[in-house]
Amino acid sequence: MIIKPSDIENKEIQTIYHPQKGEQGSVIDIDTFSLFYGKSQALFDTTMDVEKGLVTAIIGPSGCGKSTLLKSLNRMNDLIDNISINGKIRFEGKNIFDRDTDVINLRKQMGMVFQKPNPFPMSIADNVTYPLKIDGIRGKNVLAETCERSLKRTALWDEVKDRLNESALRLSGGQQQRLCIARAIAADPEVLLMDEPCSALDPMATIKIEDLINELKGKYTIIIVTHNMQQAARVSNNTAFMYIGRIIEYGKTDIIFTKPKSMKTQDYVTGRFG
Ligand SMILES: Nc1ncnc2c1ncn2[C@@H]1O[C@H](COP(=O)(O)OP(=O)(O)OP(=O)(O)O)[C@@H](O)[C@H]1O
Ligand SMILES: [Mg+2]
Repeated sequence: MIIKPSDIENKEIQTIYHPQKGEQGSVIDIDTFSLFYGKSQALFDTTMDVEKGLVTAIIGPSGCGKSTLLKSLNRMNDLIDNISINGKIRFEGKNIFDRDTDVINLRKQMGMVFQKPNPFPMSIADNVTYPLKIDGIRGKNVLAETCERSLKRTALWDEVKDRLNESALRLSGGQQQRLCIARAIAADPEVLLMDEPCSALDPMATIKIEDLINELKGKYTIIIVTHNMQQAARVSNNTAFMYIGRIIEYGKTDIIFTKPKSMKTQDYVTGRFG
């Protein structure tokens, strides 16, 4: 997509809608948050509340800032040079950019799953228990229990229980992605951040991940970036549509897909551009 300067002047793309607050309230509160890579602004006053225990999808054309916003939530962007920010992101009420934030702990509470499965070159069991081991947990029983529980939660246990000591790299792509989710939840996070977790997977493996997201809903707050409209519609409760660094519209998924308020959202969800 080519971004024209006239688009940025377009009033419509500056409109922001908020969902009604759920009964459980919000766990993440993005408050007029902007981000610059050097001089180039990638996020413009993004504002949204993420409801606890629900699945929130972030959709929008390539380059609109979805990954940038997702990586801001657990401060993964800190690892990139030359970034500056404005505004706040509150996690459980506290601004994550406060000086006293424990960034390692923040990342533990917000597990991340990437586009391409990234198991470590070690056994299946060691992959799952990795977050515990780096925390210094050595008890064999605790590690074995966490391994089993996490693999059961990601519906992988039956497929791998007899080969826990084999290399994780021998698993199929879909199994590797479920293993990465098992590793993320072994650390007992509050939030799971998923950046296009199915884009490298075939349709069957994709369905398994979507089933898993539905299973995990409620236990974790899940934020998923996806290019797949059907996927967003199938798995999420709320959807944010982003365009050129802005959140154009945010609300209940069925409304965003059936009765969006913004013409831009409508054009995107009906496939007029992308
Ligand atoms: N490390 C970086 N340094 C400089 N600019 C960057 C960096 N990462 C992303 N950008 C720019 O920020 C903007 C948003 O990128 P981002 O990766 O967040 O988009 P996206 O919506 O996730 O796109 P896609 O759907 O293709 O993954 C783009 O213009 C991109 O070129
Ligand atoms: Mg991206």
